[in-house]
Amino acid sequence: MALSIVVLAAGQGKRMHSKLPKVLHDLAGKSLLEHVVNTTLKLESAVSPLIVYGHQGQTIRQRLNHLSVTWIEQAEQLGTGHAVLQALPKIPQENQVLILYGDVPLITLETLQSLITTTPKEAIGIITALFPNPTGLGRIIRDSTNKIQRVIEEKDASAKELLVNEINTGIYLIPSHYLRKWLPTVTNHNAQKEYYLTDIINIASQENITIHSQTPNHYQEVLGVNDRIQLSQLERFYQQTAALKLMQQGVTLYDPARFDLRGDLSVGQDVIIDVNVIIEGQVTIGNHCRIGPNTLLRNVTLQDHVEIKANSIIDGAFIAEQSVIGPFARIRPGTEIATQAQIGNFIEIKNSRIGSGTKIHHVGYIGDSEIGKQVNIGAGTITCNYDGTLKHKTVIGDHAFIGSNSELVAPVTIGEGATIGAGSTIMQDAPPNQLTVTRKEQRTIANWQKKTKKEKEI
Ligand code: UD1
Ligand code: CA
Repeated sequence: MALSIVVLAAGQGKRMHSKLPKVLHDLAGKSLLEHVVNTTLKLESAVSPLIVYGHQGQTIRQRLNHLSVTWIEQAEQLGTGHAVLQALPKIPQENQVLILYGDVPLITLETLQSLITTTPKEAIGIITALFPNPTGLGRIIRDSTNKIQRVIEEKDASAKELLVNEINTGIYLIPSHYLRKWLPTVTNHNAQKEYYLTDIINIASQENITIHSQTPNHYQEVLGVNDRIQLSQLERFYQQTAALKLMQQGVTLYDPARFDLRGDLSVGQDVIIDVNVIIEGQVTIGNHCRIGPNTLLRNVTLQDHVEIKANSIIDGAFIAEQSVIGPFARIRPGTEIATQAQIGNFIEIKNSRIGSGTKIHHVGYIGDSEIGKQVNIGAGTITCNYDGTLKHKTVIGDHAFIGSNSELVAPVTIGEGATIGAGSTIMQDAPPNQLTVTRKEQRTIANWQKKTKKEKEI
């Protein structure tokens, strides 16, 4: 049977106490809803999911504009059953429907796949889990033969039913023709005056339809985010899982509890990651790299044997083999650093190419520059790339030597092998292999004497 997927995401999430709709809050650098959508897109049988949205609909659609999904508006949030009803017109009669929740972000592909493969064709599949503390959740009520009879919401449950700790995750697989038949008959005669999706389980058991239940590998997969405490707990679970996976692949993490992955990391052999490292976006780390403490790597590729020293921020850069960056370096987008370069402390580099073996050791700004091989850039060098209106380029040839505290006013070219005297402000191109200096001659004033304190007071 072909599959349709519905993700419910119309609720406000009152307990988040936020202006942002709940499903737009981030977990590991991605919105809750995006986690769910990305998982569904990996299902073999899947077409793009139908997202039921409502509360702050425009904000959700704008922020998640890049997702390939179909948006279905639920103008008023009258309950989960009512939400699924809005999606029905878009679902073919002969399809099975997988129902997921925008606020249950960590459900895994494996669990969903096994629900799909183990649920018989005309049966209903439901994911349930045993929770030590089921407070707030719908409970699964079974009969004496252990068959699922109904789902009861916490607010409607009797004292005895509240003792049940098998919970309804809300994740169902159900033939669409049942939804068509049953959903319009569901009422809102309950404590919350909502149209509950869970009522279809009660109807199915009355009609003797097989209800097949399945548990997830880890109960955290089916935890919902209703407040910021739960959000932080799921974030930690996600990070622990990510850290364990990396260590299993052979990465040394000095402290797995102080490592955060907010994107995708592909990593080579014998990589050592010190504490408080944050990985964002798409990051590739080659073999034998060392990442120092308190470092942020965002959309970065590091080739083999690269060392990033403590307290560096590397963003949108490519760093070739055996280069050493930091401590306290800031590398900004559009930067390519060739092999065996050395970028030291308090250096900012933006949108520049740095040649192989080039050294920029102490304090400086390099922007919109093309720097050759084996160049030595002295402390305090600044490329003045911005004239207040436009950005201009600085070109420095191979083997050049830029003396400390120089300003290179772009557009400007420093020839190969040129030397720039310390403290120069270079406004015009400097020829190759010669010394260019703009500094004034040093003078010493003979017989000069400091004023005494008394003289100064007069
Ligand atoms: C729901 C289930 C409960 C289950 C729990 C698991 C019902 C009646 N209850 O309760 O049995 O244990 O999930 O997490 O289904 N939503 C809409 N439109 C609406 C109402 C909700 O799209 O009109 C969306 C919400 O945005 C959310 C999801 O549906 O993503 C669940 O709604 P929520 O109000 O959080 O239900 P729970 O009380 O958690
Ligand atoms: Ca919920």
